[in-house]
Amino acid sequence: MKQNRIIKNVKIATPLGHSAVKGEAMGKIHYVDDAVIVIIDGIIEYAGAEKDCPADLLALHAYEYTDAGRRLAVPGFVDSHTHLIFGGFRPDEFSWRLKGDSYMSIMERGGGIQSTVNSTRNASAEEISDKTRWLVDRMVEMGVTTVEAKSGYGLDVATERMQLEAIRNLQQSAGAPLNVVATFLGAHAIPTEYKGRTSEYVDHIIEEMLPQFKDLAKFCDVFCEKNVFELEDSRRLLSAARDMGYDLKLHADEIVTLGGGELAAELKAVSADHLLHVSDEGIRRMAEEGVVATLLPLTAFALKEPFAPARKFIEAGAAVALATDLNPGSCFSGSIPLTIALACIHMNMTIEETLTALTLNGAAAVGMADSIGSIEKGKQADIAILEFDNLNYLPYYVGMNCVKTTIHNGRIVYDAKPIGNY
Ligand code: NIG
Ligand code: FE
Repeated sequence: MKQNRIIKNVKIATPLGHSAVKGEAMGKIHYVDDAVIVIIDGIIEYAGAEKDCPADLLALHAYEYTDAGRRLAVPGFVDSHTHLIFGGFRPDEFSWRLKGDSYMSIMERGGGIQSTVNSTRNASAEEISDKTRWLVDRMVEMGVTTVEAKSGYGLDVATERMQLEAIRNLQQSAGAPLNVVATFLGAHAIPTEYKGRTSEYVDHIIEEMLPQFKDLAKFCDVFCEKNVFELEDSRRLLSAARDMGYDLKLHADEIVTLGGGELAAELKAVSADHLLHVSDEGIRRMAEEGVVATLLPLTAFALKEPFAPARKFIEAGAAVALATDLNPGSCFSGSIPLTIALACIHMNMTIEETLTALTLNGAAAVGMADSIGSIEKGKQADIAILEFDNLNYLPYYVGMNCVKTTIHNGRIVYDAKPIGNY
């Protein structure tokens, strides 16, 4: 559902452009103080100073009106890395990690991803879609208007298909409150039935899964990690996926330095994600090849790992995106507010760079920078109106939701109760 809408009495802060913003330019934000945003059929027709808005535009259509009360509008947030579709939860593992257990040792004992695979294989499509919708509603309240969602908790044809169909159903559901981008992650772990036979499982993905999921997924991703899918298996899988027309993503250098950043550059992946332990060479090569570095601070925080080197990426001239990595294991959080706080406080990103990373660069990481990620003429009207009139509130209101109204395709999909003046 798309709408005609005029948002008046509003301020705007947005990056501009139709591709990822790289390096220092990420800090460049376009501000308009006394602005109006005119939306026709879900598309931004005008976003700029009220005094310059062509008068005939205002008379052209029947509009819904939103008075923003001089609050700040930013582009709807793009959560470009999530594992949104899963059965069960894993709170016990979290408690074990608090006592010193490590993420990889739990996984090697058959817990971790495999435990969610078991729960997902046993869940009904209806349970999965109800849970997904519950998670999505929380995201929309935090201003998310586009989410990337991965499969990867099936690791067999039937359950991977069930996950990808759940993603498609969410995409296509009438009145969906956000854009949904699907990623096939059959190479998320080696399923127990292939234990010790990683190469055979990769063959199975290439021969049986990739060809039949092409219409369901835009991206192919791999957990490229020591003792999971190492460089050679990852290269073989992703090259086959690329040949079949998938765009590429990698979980790279999350737990140890393996050369995932370099591999992403070699394969010209759209993004490499995590990168807590990326090498300097990986950073340099990613910047050179224009691979978006998608950093996931909530995961580093939840695993008590060091944060990814955001400043090094920016100084090397790379494009940085930020996302949540929402999943039932390493990071059961989809908190945009906490992502912002960690990026600004612990990764030393500026507030402006953080905004670009969560909007236009997130859009580039899902291949949609042409149509979303900024508030400018011709883009989809996906907008978050904050409670406040100033960008600085985003990290300052630490870990708390600053979003008052979320707009998707010109339609209000979330609106907090007005609280009055403060
Ligand atoms: O991005 N590391 C691989 N995949 C996820 C975690 C999945 C899980 O623990 O269930 C991640 O951290
Ligand atoms: Fe992930």
